[in-house]
Amino acid sequence: MKMADEPIVVGIDIGTTKVCTLVARVEGGSSFRILGVGIEPSQGIRKGTIVDLQAASQAIARSIEKAERTSGMEITSALVSLAGSHVSSVNSRGVVGIAGRVIDQEDVFRALDAAQAVAIPHNREIIHVIQRGFVVDGQDGIRMPVGMHGYRLEVEAHIITAAASTVENLRQCVQASGVEVVQFVLNPLASAEVVLSDTERQMGVVVCDIGGGTTDMAIYIDGDIWHTMVLGIGGNHITSDIAHGLRLPLSQAEEIKKLYGHAVQSDIPENETFSTRIFGEERPVEISRRDLAMIIEARVEEIFDLILQEIKRSGYDGLLPAGVVLTGGSSLLPGIRTLASQVMGLPVRIAKPENLLGLTDQLNSPAYSTSVGLLSWAMMMSETPAAAGKRSRKKGGSSEFGDWFKSFLKRLLP
Ligand SMILES: Nc1ncnc2c1ncn2[C@@H]1O[C@H](COP(=O)(O)OP(=O)(O)OP(=O)(O)O)[C@@H](O)[C@H]1O
Ligand SMILES: [Mg+2]
Repeated sequence: MKMADEPIVVGIDIGTTKVCTLVARVEGGSSFRILGVGIEPSQGIRKGTIVDLQAASQAIARSIEKAERTSGMEITSALVSLAGSHVSSVNSRGVVGIAGRVIDQEDVFRALDAAQAVAIPHNREIIHVIQRGFVVDGQDGIRMPVGMHGYRLEVEAHIITAAASTVENLRQCVQASGVEVVQFVLNPLASAEVVLSDTERQMGVVVCDIGGGTTDMAIYIDGDIWHTMVLGIGGNHITSDIAHGLRLPLSQAEEIKKLYGHAVQSDIPENETFSTRIFGEERPVEISRRDLAMIIEARVEEIFDLILQEIKRSGYDGLLPAGVVLTGGSSLLPGIRTLASQVMGLPVRIAKPENLLGLTDQLNSPAYSTSVGLLSWAMMMSETPAAAGKRSRKKGGSSEFGDWFKSFLKRLLP
């Protein structure tokens, strides 16, 4: 049964290849009914960063308009995805005194504020402050300290920052369509909400969203986020290798990749070919699928080498029995799972959004994990200020959360 006050949530995923605006109603407290979808090719965005304000604003505006038209609602605010190699993260600790009384939510916020007191340069903006766990009077491993007695509360926080100017540009592009950015959500954190199971997060897992221009990673251990990273490499690099290797225009290379591409050369029979037009030839020429796979394999191997290096650099490489969960548009490449597992020596599975209701035809693909994940974040934030604080809290106080949610609801278009 549908309840009148079930919240409506909006997410705008600004990717390197597409902008995807989704409007959804939360049903039964956990599933989404997609009411509006606006998917448009991106413009003016490279490796997750705006390089042409006007072009990017226009692409975002088209995506928002489409979602407004399909849903019949006017969008006034949204959660927006964020990526790019300007993002960085650090683990930090905040300590506050309690004086022997019962710990309340305000104390938790104070501890999180203290954790943010790390030296952050002026040109960086805090995007997320995520609590990883608490220590009360020296006892660690505490997941929820509210209600406990204590004298000293410590929080372990994961702080994600981004270049302030880049964030501001993105905000400006969205505002140009009359939409307020409620919060930016780092790509891999959005994707993780959709593709990771609770067991995986508990055991230790890394989520890798390989998109067009970026590879977004997050490591979860003991149920919490321990490490995040955005690499400026993705499916566009594979496409451009194909374009150079076979001497084709980029658009044709992209099409060939999707039609005939494979990540494991030895899986392709030697005699398989396809025909296409290349530069300098009047007629279509026959190209071996193996040659194509050779080009792709080299680049995909490099991507997984970089991912593995990053996992090792984090220092958590021995703590990931659940392995790697791959998502993002590039995880659609046949053979990618096998190659990922070979290169990284970890179990690998490929995941996409599931259990959606409503206008779901296009969203049933790994390319939309971040887009749908934004809706999950919006839902989490809408629950209660405390729940919002559990995963993330921007600088500026807890009272914001109750207020933004009201404005998140959109009025019906006439
Ligand atoms: N069937 C397919 N086989 C191989 N690659 C594919 C396939 N379908 C999509 N891709 C690739 O997926 C990439 C786009 O993925 P996605 O939509 O997740 O990126 P994005 O969110 O726009 O970009 P980013 O997150 O990197 O900013 C493109 O490089 C595209 O070529
Ligand atoms: Mg993406």
